[in-house]
Amino acid sequence: MAKRWINDLTQADVTPESAFLNRRQILAGLGASTVIGAGFSAGQAQAQEALKPNDWDDIINYCNYYEFGTGKDDPAKNAHTLTTDPWSVKIDGMVERPGDYALGDILAKMTIEERIYRFRCVEAWSMVVPWNGFELADLLEMAGVKPEAKYVAFETVYRPEEMPGTRYPVLDWPYVEGLRLDEAMHPLTLMATGIYGKPLPNQNGAPMRLVVPWKYGFKSIKSVVRITLTDSEPPTSWNKANGREYGFYSNVNPTVDHPRWSQATERPLGGGLFARRKPTLMFNGYEKEVAALYEGMDLTKNF
Ligand code: MTE
Repeated sequence: MAKRWINDLTQADVTPESAFLNRRQILAGLGASTVIGAGFSAGQAQAQEALKPNDWDDIINYCNYYEFGTGKDDPAKNAHTLTTDPWSVKIDGMVERPGDYALGDILAKMTIEERIYRFRCVEAWSMVVPWNGFELADLLEMAGVKPEAKYVAFETVYRPEEMPGTRYPVLDWPYVEGLRLDEAMHPLTLMATGIYGKPLPNQNGAPMRLVVPWKYGFKSIKSVVRITLTDSEPPTSWNKANGREYGFYSNVNPTVDHPRWSQATERPLGGGLFARRKPTLMFNGYEKEVAALYEGMDLTKNF
């Protein structure tokens, strides 16, 4: 099986954005490469709606990062206090080479790609984001996953002195998330380090965050400092806060409603308050790529 996921979007799908237009130079400057459009087939393009990435301003000003406050504009106001350099990630548990990996050493080994993904929050708003990042699978392979590992647990940095929102017990800090190992190894699963060819702004989870495009946005944990391979399902922040409303899987699914609202449609950001809602797609439009992961599972129970 070819390892790389084939992007079905071309540069023609991308909204012109000044910084984005010279992304090749930006990425080249970072010593990275971009493979957007590689292996692209015209048939795929016709089958695919054109995805227009949201503007930079939408993406960086409308955020959920509760460690910096629960308002949508709190993270943009408060997250500048987060120190993101130096940064290291502890990789431990069931791996061959556990350790504290400096972010610079990780990035030197990874191929940074550009991925234009739909992003659907459980609160029923959505965006299209041009991420830069590398496949989580490459990082896990670097650490060497032991055969007994079945799940991957993630943890966000916890620094009360830099994170004013953590003074309040909104969630049980630090923010934690988890994936089944096959979900984590899926080629769509990204560790993002940038947007629009620019480094990830603090409010979006600098210097490195998870992006799982077929799951509700809260699975995409920000500012990751620890990745643990384990053989049991790891606890996750929103499930701990309210297990009736937020499951471990949290796959985008228009047929399984949140107990307090419908998930059948979503409000695309950027079109103003009265923008027309659009139907939410099964697995957020990635059904072809990921449905096989859940074959035979009752998605109403495993929500
Ligand atoms: N990660 C941490 N550490 N803290 C958070 O509050 N919010 C989640 C997710 N990751 C969150 C987090 C939620 S609810 C969403 S929708 C996305 O981040 C939002 O990502 P964005 O602000 O970059 O759009």
